[in-house]
Order: sequence, then C-alpha cells, then structure tokens
Amino acid sequence: MSKVKSKFVCQQCGFETLRWFGRCPECGEWNTLVEEVVKTALGKQGTKTDIRPQSLVQIENLAVERLDLGMSEVNRVLGGGLVLGSIVLLAGDPGIGKSTLLLQVANYVAQRVEKVLYISGEESVEQIKMRAARLNLQAANLLLWSETDLDLLEQEIEALKPSLVIVDSIQTVFCRELTSSLGSIGQIKEATSRLGALVKGLNIPLLIVGHVTKEGSIAGPRVLEHMVDTVLYFEGERHHQYRILRAIKNRFGSTFELGVFEMQNGGLVEVLNPSQAFLAERPLASPGSVVVASIEGTRPLLVEIQALVSRSVFGQPRRVATGADYNRVNLLMAVLEKRVGLNLSQQDAYVNVVGGIKIQEPALDLAIAVALASSLKNRPCLPNLVVMGEVGLTGEIRSVPFVEKRLREAQKLGFTHCLIPYGRKLSCFDRQEKSLEIIEAKTLKEALDIALV
Ligand code: TYD
Ligand code: MG
Repeated sequence: MSKVKSKFVCQQCGFETLRWFGRCPECGEWNTLVEEVVKTALGKQGTKTDIRPQSLVQIENLAVERLDLGMSEVNRVLGGGLVLGSIVLLAGDPGIGKSTLLLQVANYVAQRVEKVLYISGEESVEQIKMRAARLNLQAANLLLWSETDLDLLEQEIEALKPSLVIVDSIQTVFCRELTSSLGSIGQIKEATSRLGALVKGLNIPLLIVGHVTKEGSIAGPRVLEHMVDTVLYFEGERHHQYRILRAIKNRFGSTFELGVFEMQNGGLVEVLNPSQAFLAERPLASPGSVVVASIEGTRPLLVEIQALVSRSVFGQPRRVATGADYNRVNLLMAVLEKRVGLNLSQQDAYVNVVGGIKIQEPALDLAIAVALASSLKNRPCLPNLVVMGEVGLTGEIRSVPFVEKRLREAQKLGFTHCLIPYGRKLSCFDRQEKSLEIIEAKTLKEALDIALV
C-alpha cells in the first residue's frame, strides 16, 4: 500500500495531482482542485456483490421508518418525519436559528425515544447548556459533545448507537488524513461521505448543519447538496420574527412544503395558522396593499403584497423586490405599461412580500400588478379582497392550480371578495355562496377595474 493519503482532483476535468495548484494544469480553470482521500484498491474490490439486475416487479417495497421530531411543521416539511438512516442537511444564514431548532428537536426525541447525540464544533457544551436552559430543555438522554475530529466522531457514534445524530456544523468537522484547511470543500466532502456511510449502515438518521456562504450556496459549490438525501433551508429576515423551513431536495417527500416558525424568547414556536399571522398587521384600505392566496406545497397561504410607486428623482428609476422575483416585477411593470397604459417608466417601484417570506409561484403575478397599479393611482383595493392569477405577456390572466383550496382559505379568514382567472370550473365551490363573492377576470385591465375602488 502506498503512503500517499490524499490527492487533489480537479472538479472540472478530473485531473489528479499530489500537490495543490491554484490553476488546473490540465484544463486551465482556477480554484477547481479539491483534496480527496486516496482509497486503496482493496476498498474498491470489497464493494463487489453477487446481486444481479432485478425485475421491477420482483423488488420489494422499501418500508421507510420515520422518527417523529415533535414539531408538526418540521415533520411535514420532511414528508412525515425523519427517515431512519437518512442524511438531512439544514442550511441557513448564521444566526437564523439552526442550532436552536435542532436542540429543540434533539430534546424532544431524547425525551421520547432513546439517546440523541448532539455534536457541536461551534460551541462548548456549557454554551449549549446555557441555550438549553433558556429553552427550558432538560432531557437526560440528550448527550452533548463538543468535538471536531472525524475519527473520534465515527468511533463514538458506533459505540453509542444513538437514535439520532446531529452535527452542528459540518464545516467544523476535521479529517486528519487531509492537509487542506478546516471548512474547505475537500474536508466537508470527506466528512459528509464518511459520516453518511456510517449512519446508513447503522440505520441512524443524521442531521447536519451547513452554513450558507456569502454567495448564498452551501459550502461553496453545491457539492454537499448532492451527497445528502434531503436539503432543508431555514430562512427569514434576521430581525423579523418569522422563520421559514423549506425543503429544496427531498428523496423521501415533496419539495414544496413549507414550515413556519416564530422566534420567541423561549425558542422557536410553530405557527400553525400562518395566513392569520402574516395578515395580522395589514393596513385596511391603503393604496398599494393587496392580499394574495398562494399555495406552498399542500397548504394555502394568504400573504399581503405591498407596493410603493413614486416619482423617480434620478435618471434611472429604482426597482426593488423583497420576497418576490425581481425580474418578474420588472416584467409585470412592462405589461402594465404596454397593455394597461400605465406610465411607470419614470417611477421608482418597491415591492415587498410582508412577513419576510419568499414566494415564487406565478399566482403572485396578479397581486403584484394590482399592488403596483393601486399605489400608482393612489386608489386602495376593494376591502376584504383576495386575488390570484398569473399574468401573461399580452396582459391576459392565466389560470392557477388549486383554486378551490385557495378560496376556502380566504373564506376561512373572513375575506368576502375573490378575484380569480376567467373560466375555471369550480365544481365543489358554490358561486352563490353568500360569504364569498367570486369575480372572474380575463385581462389585467379588467382585473384592475374590478379590484381598485
Ligand atoms: P442560533 O440557533 O444560534 O442560530 P444559528 O445556529 O443558525 O447560527 O440562533 C441565534 C439567534 O436566535 C440569536 O440571535 C438569538 C436568537 N434566539 C432567540 O431569539 N430566542 C431563543 O430562545 C434563542 C435560543 C435564540
Ligand atoms: Mg449555530
């Protein structure tokens, strides 16, 4: 066996070398060499098995066992709990509340099931204890450990066989075989693949924290996302009380689900009725404010969209979108200009999705357009109006999925008027229902005539 323990591999062209170069000598790309542990030939042979290709009908269904994490919002985002033997990456900006969430989850599991191992390379056990005291957590089966050496982590997990392992964060785990520095891509890849293989063998679920870099990706390039089963993002404005948990990738569930939490003095509290929470401070009869019925995963969510349009003092008008897609806002302004005849070219425009939440779905279009027009004309919307609809480039309103589900949510929260795309057959929704008047619109122009008072 050779003495060489690690090598550098170019992520672009696959070139291998024993020393590091800033620029790959083969393909000429910069910063593409990543350190990897050299696997001996023996290891490769060892993976050979007798299993031959099998017919689809012969393969038995895999029974996935799931661990209840205590909070229904977390369980739902994961697809109904944490699958045993799966690796989940929790990513998010520093200070958003990742450690708090995981400590709460760890405590719940430790109270109900057996040992939970919480490994932190970021904080000492005393610091974690302080946080636990603040959160009023006191499970005896919750084992805290401040350690970063990958070899030691592996030994301890094998010896303890806990029912859940948490690593906070993967950027602090250190593999001795590699010479590259702590937190480098090579280190993170090695730590994730070794810990992952270990927990899969033991059928233990593993939750790892990954920091988001300045560019917004987890640990530089998105290598880590490919190595895990599930990627969750914990997001929200730091100075806002709401936090959103979202699945970006999920091998064991849908990726559209969203969990809403509120950061309070005693930790994270689930928000079970987010629509109500997001609309709590809504100004009534103010120009520029519109409520949209959106769908996140399986759940309808009513959110307020605000727009402020004001005369630009500089040559180039400013456009800002918070929580909504910037390009979409620009596109909608162009449609309003060309198809409705609103003069927006010399106006600054600010669009905000209230509550620090991000919404991507096209049904948001109509709300943004109505909010912009409402602010420009200084005319408020009909009181208690909810809108939904995608806006096309010719100014037509296009249909959106799950209209009935959205309508029910609006009705539940006491809205009386609903503006929807034209021509939807609402089978289970009675149009004559007194409490909710449904108004259809074919074009954006029509919609604005109806929506603005
Ligand atoms: P933390 O979980 O340490 O964030 P992360 O691990 O993502 O870096 O949470 C940090 C913030 O949360 C911190 O600024 C204080 C706040 N916080 C509360 O408001 N209430 C609490 O009960 C706790 C524990 C933290
Ligand atoms: Mg932390």
